[in-house]
Amino acid sequence: MSMQASPSRREFIRTSSAALAAATAVAGARPLKGAYAQETSQTLRVGLIGCGGRGSGAIRQALLADPNTKLVAMGDAFADRLDASLKQLQGSDLAARVQVEDDHKFTGFDAHKQVIEASDVVLLAEPPAFRPASLRAAIEAGKHVFCEKPIAVDPVGVRQVMETCEMAQGKGLNIVSGLCYRYEFSKQDTMKRIHDGELGDILVIQTTYNTGGLWHRGSDPNWSEMEYQVRNWLYFDWLSGDHINEQHIHSLDKVAWAMGDAYPVKCTSSGGRVQRTDPKYGNIYDHFNTVYEWANGVKAFSSCRQWESSSTDVSDHVIGTKGVAHIQDHAIDSRDGRTWKHEKQENDDMYQNEHNALFAAIRKGEPINNGNYMCKSTLMAIMARMAAYTGKTVTWDEIQNSDLNLAPAKLEWGPHPVNPVAVPGSLEKA
Ligand SMILES: NC(=O)c1ccc[n+]([C@@H]2O[C@H](COP(=O)([O-])OP(=O)(O)OC[C@H]3O[C@@H](n4cnc5c(N)ncnc54)[C@H](O)[C@@H]3O)[C@@H](O)[C@H]2O)c1
Repeated sequence: MSMQASPSRREFIRTSSAALAAATAVAGARPLKGAYAQETSQTLRVGLIGCGGRGSGAIRQALLADPNTKLVAMGDAFADRLDASLKQLQGSDLAARVQVEDDHKFTGFDAHKQVIEASDVVLLAEPPAFRPASLRAAIEAGKHVFCEKPIAVDPVGVRQVMETCEMAQGKGLNIVSGLCYRYEFSKQDTMKRIHDGELGDILVIQTTYNTGGLWHRGSDPNWSEMEYQVRNWLYFDWLSGDHINEQHIHSLDKVAWAMGDAYPVKCTSSGGRVQRTDPKYGNIYDHFNTVYEWANGVKAFSSCRQWESSSTDVSDHVIGTKGVAHIQDHAIDSRDGRTWKHEKQENDDMYQNEHNALFAAIRKGEPINNGNYMCKSTLMAIMARMAAYTGKTVTWDEIQNSDLNLAPAKLEWGPHPVNPVAVPGSLEKA
């Protein structure tokens, strides 16, 4: 078995360390006064790509963020998913601003193209596999983007997104990431204290995302293999990048944030599937345990699992020479006995905050570009997945240069065999 797909399966973009350096420079650069700024009096047409749970929530937040916005176009692989989301929005308090005519409902693998054409701002909430192409199309077309996490499922996709983020920077377009904790004021306050040195030097970090099982959308004899997989996208490596990428990325992004957006030089990981062994759950694992290591010797111990009837825990603890920060509790215990806890502000809804920031940036013409961390945190997750799948230690250098490309040769409904569940030791490289 080989996870190594031929580079010809998707346009291969060999950028490597130079692109990572450029992406970092982009993130630090002073934003251009946006050529795509929009006066408050001008109605912003918003389009949604991926009309599921998150997309339906994101539209609501976009409409609440700016009074002069309306939803004009929706796209989904499936008409039933699109219609269910539209019906829910039409029955909501925001119904008057949901103005999606029948000829602005787009379905199939190319739906994103028509949504982008019809919109000024595009919300990307489709499965991660499709995001590099949607994001590229949106930025090429000069549209502002809210971009859910993760941004890709393989290193080739990550490099494509890095290039797109540079393109957005050059055009003065916004890319706001759905790594929502970065927009929670209480997390920002806690991280600022860490960055200001309240913990002293960071020694070690522990991060956990132990949760129950997620949804499964069943099967239907009328569905092709491809349709089954896209409807149940969580469970296929090529669609979600496995749950360490799809869900635990939130924890990994917090770790990278605490480290001042410095990323690990290598990691070792073990994982497997012990509960979700039924073939209906595709080819992903149900648990991972990873040790990440930074150039300065800091280690992060990360675990994630999706197990039914088991204890749950979502927490992160940053341990330094002077104290310990409990990120999810927004609290710091200092070694000298002092305890600090963030006082939760009213209206600190991270999902709303990110849309408020996006629309304010569009109006002001001061674009936000979250490209650096959204790309690198995705790569951090992919690095651990491949360390677990291969059983080998994977370096940052290897993963950022890897030509692993999980995209199918052609996106079409029909047969679509997938990789078997990875057995550590049987794969040659990440
Ligand atoms: N930031 C967060 O806290 C958060 C929370 C949940 C989900 N998410 C992310 O949002 C994204 C969507 O997750 P969800 O929970 O809404 O899943 P979902 O399955 O409910 O929604 C995804 C929708 O995309 C549709 N789709 C599939 N292929 C498509 C394609 N090629 N083009 C357009 N639409 C397509 C599906 O039919 C489905 O309706 C994922 O990337 C997920 O990781 C983020």
